[in-house]
Amino acid sequence: MRKKLAAGNWKMNMTPEETGRFIEDLKPLVKDSNADVALMVPYVDIKTALDAAKDSNIEIGAQNMHFEESGAFTGEISPVMLKETGVKYVIIGHSERREYFAETDETVNKKVLKALEYDLIPIMCCGETLTQREQGITIDHIRKQIKIGLLNVSSDDIEKVVIAYEPIWAIGTGVTATSEQAQEVCAAIRDTLRELYGEKADNIRILYGGSVKGENASELFGMPDIDGGLVGGASLKLSFADIVNYDK
Ligand code: PGA
Repeated sequence: MRKKLAAGNWKMNMTPEETGRFIEDLKPLVKDSNADVALMVPYVDIKTALDAAKDSNIEIGAQNMHFEESGAFTGEISPVMLKETGVKYVIIGHSERREYFAETDETVNKKVLKALEYDLIPIMCCGETLTQREQGITIDHIRKQIKIGLLNVSSDDIEKVVIAYEPIWAIGTGVTATSEQAQEVCAAIRDTLRELYGEKADNIRILYGGSVKGENASELFGMPDIDGGLVGGASLKLSFADIVNYDK
């Protein structure tokens, strides 16, 4: 049985001070949740976030990392550094990283492998543009992202990976994919995982992301192949708790 995961992606929002206050306020609102709860915070907020979330059910992650352990990569953060902070998750290959920072399926694959090597749970993102959807190549595109992103991920490691399906046209736009559209692609992702890893595919969590809100979370998370959400804008408000408590 896959446990649902409500993961917030704060993007480039929240200072350390705001982080501490927000998590203190969020804790009591989500403490009885049936879903796992996580917040992916900016690097500089990680320590404050971990301190504030201590002894609570809120888990902390990062939003990106480099695939090398150290070296001349000004401005980057390595898996070794992340591991030492104590974060549990790291988002890999978010569409904003692909669009603005030239990440490719190949760099995503290197990062996924490195995250696993350092026992960080990668939340590997995939998703189509509006043009790709209109041209009817959504599933082909997603299958390619999944297959290249997971290249050489062993069958022992695959159940640690979380996949996030985020149609780019639904991110930050207020336009949410219908639950049927989201389910169709998440089912195709699971089929692809089954081709690669057999029945282990049934233990891999697949999240939907793109304008998830309190009002649509229960319908989306109720679909058979959707195991929770990666939530941007709505994770910056305390009403994120309504998404976490989608089943209450
Ligand atoms: P959104 O972002 O919920 O603001 O649409 C989702 C994401 O980019 O992870």
